[in-house]
Amino acid sequence: MRPTRAKMRRTRKNSKGAILVLHGPNLNLLGTREPKIYGRETLAEINARLQAAGRRQGVEVRCFQSNAEGGLVDRVQAARTEGVHFIVANPAAYTHTSVALRDALSAVSIPFIEVHLSNIHAREAFRRHSYFSDIALGTICGLGSRGYDLALGIALERIAGR
Ligand code: DQA
Repeated sequence: MRPTRAKMRRTRKNSKGAILVLHGPNLNLLGTREPKIYGRETLAEINARLQAAGRRQGVEVRCFQSNAEGGLVDRVQAARTEGVHFIVANPAAYTHTSVALRDALSAVSIPFIEVHLSNIHAREAFRRHSYFSDIALGTICGLGSRGYDLALGIALERIAGR
C-alpha cells in the first residue's frame, strides 16, 4: 500500500535526515540482468533493505532509478531543494560517459559515495574510467549489493555526527 501524503509529510517532519540512493540505467533489471556479474537480488529488494536500515535510525532513504540521463540530473538538482544530506550513487553506464551527471553532483555540493556492484577495474578497459570517483567521498566496487549497505552505513554515520 502506498503511504498517504499526510503520512509522508509526517515521516519527513520526524526524520533526522534524508539520503538519496540513485540508480542509473539498466539497474531496474537487477535480478535477471547478467546475474553472474550483478547477482540475483532485485532493485526492489535492495531498496527495501536500505530503507529499513534508514528507518531504524530515523533517517529517510529515498530511492530513485532512471534509464535517462536527464531524469538523473533532475533528481540530483531536486535533492538540494529537498534538503537531502547525502547521496549514494550508482551511475551505472553513465559512470563512464556522463559529464552532465558529474556536474549536477558538483553543483548541489551534497557529499556522495559512488557504488558499483561489479569490480569495474576487473572488466573491460572502458569501465575503468569514472567521471565520479575524483569528486566522490569514496568509491565502493566489486562487493555486490553489499556495497550499497556499506555506503549507506557511512552516510548514516555522517548524518548522526552532524
Ligand atoms: C555498474 C558497472 C557499470 O560499468 C555498468 O555499466 C552498470 C553497472 C555496476 O554496478 O557494477 O550498469 O555500475
